[in-house]
Amino acid sequence: VEHTHTAPGTAPIVVASNRGPVSYRLGEDGTLHAGRGGGGLVSGLSAIGPDAGAVWVCAALGEGDRLAARRAGRRLDAADTGDQPVRMLDIPSATFAAAYNGVANSVLWFLHHMLWQTPLEPSFDSGFREQWAQYEAYNTAFADAVAEEAAEGAGVLVQDYHLTLVPGLLRARRPDLRIGHFSHTPWAPPDYYRLLPDDIAEQVLRGMLGGDRAAFLTRRWAESFAACCASVLPGAEILPEEDGTAAAVRFEGRTTRLGVHGLGADAEFLRARAHRPDVEEWIGRLREQIGPDRSIVLRVDRTELSKNIVRGLHAYRRLLEDHPQWRGRVVHLAFAYPSRQDLKVYRDYTDEVQRVAQEINATFGTDSWQPVSLQVKDDFARSLAAYRIADVALVNPIRDGMNLVAKEVPLVSDRGCALVLSREAGAAAELGDDALVVNPYDVEATARALHMALLMDPAERAERTKRLSSAATALPPARWFTDQLAALRR
Ligand code: G6P
Repeated sequence: VEHTHTAPGTAPIVVASNRGPVSYRLGEDGTLHAGRGGGGLVSGLSAIGPDAGAVWVCAALGEGDRLAARRAGRRLDAADTGDQPVRMLDIPSATFAAAYNGVANSVLWFLHHMLWQTPLEPSFDSGFREQWAQYEAYNTAFADAVAEEAAEGAGVLVQDYHLTLVPGLLRARRPDLRIGHFSHTPWAPPDYYRLLPDDIAEQVLRGMLGGDRAAFLTRRWAESFAACCASVLPGAEILPEEDGTAAAVRFEGRTTRLGVHGLGADAEFLRARAHRPDVEEWIGRLREQIGPDRSIVLRVDRTELSKNIVRGLHAYRRLLEDHPQWRGRVVHLAFAYPSRQDLKVYRDYTDEVQRVAQEINATFGTDSWQPVSLQVKDDFARSLAAYRIADVALVNPIRDGMNLVAKEVPLVSDRGCALVLSREAGAAAELGDDALVVNPYDVEATARALHMALLMDPAERAERTKRLSSAATALPPARWFTDQLAALRR
């Protein structure tokens, strides 16, 4: 499926990312249903409107939908994409699998989230080399397509760890373009980054430095990136700002500026969406299920190793052990939506989450009280309903680029919600003052924070939520997007 509404070579703005702005579901009758994809990038891009002539180049549309799209053999038309010109690349499925599941999600994702565990991982062998060749092919397909679509001097915004080689490949094809890369993940510190084979570590950084800018969600990840360049690339130099932070990396005669854009939540969209009838209906159902006098500890995540769901459950168990007064008086709503199920390590993790939740229910549950309610079917309306009525939100990732749940909950909460937040989430840099900040590995400390959060005085909770919600909206997606374009043009 390759399609575009504009003539090649005319787009003044090109966005490139693995996942596109549309998400397809295959209905029970075999037909495809299109919907707006989630995330800040989609809402950011909608800010510039269809007249800006931006084209979005992508390789996947929704979880598993690439397959669905192929099966149905359909083209994207304007009605499906909300007038957003989209060019979906026709990448051979073996190349896609190796680049997306193999290199991007099994290697680069684990690297930047520091998820590897000895003795098994990582180990780089000939299988990895084959996957790497496919990652190069996948990145080359993107670079070719962007080079074709972009007008003279166009601004190109390349997204995430799937596409680290694109800036360099594109620079070689089209030196006239203004190229920016944005990382939605953390960036690993040098000692961890150097677990990659030396030549690959170098190739990734060289790829990124092919751009005019490399931007990140927080200062911490930008500094890690600069430190990796200095550590891995011979002769690379970090140019400092006046305050000593890294402003740019200079390497082989070119300068790549660093940027920090802390993506915020989309207040207008979320508040409106959270008051639609389907959400109100869910609030009624959840209240009925939970009972009127019980507090709610909520988590909403993809079932993802970096989200640290299992330790979150252990912390909740610890709360029930150490503070028996909560037994029967609290329910943990754990919404953990399946993700990347092609990978065994994700399937195993999904099973582990299920097992630990069941174990807690078997140990503490009674005829009238189920301590954990684990829900795995992704339902946005139900998530928003839970955001509105939760007493405590648990956001405890091992590492996270930003974490938007931490920003969304305070925005839509009805009576205020206490936030227990990992210090390793990018969001902690912005929300740390009013959240209860925890070390995500420290189960005991997390249990203590849950206890404090449940005890928090309602007035204080409401006050903190108000401040959290203003911090959460400091940089709305629209400005996050246009700021990057403006910085690229400077
Ligand atoms: C993270 C990445 C995104 C990715 C998302 C969902 O937020 O930064 O690029 O789209 O996870 O993961 P998936 O593999 O389903 O696209």
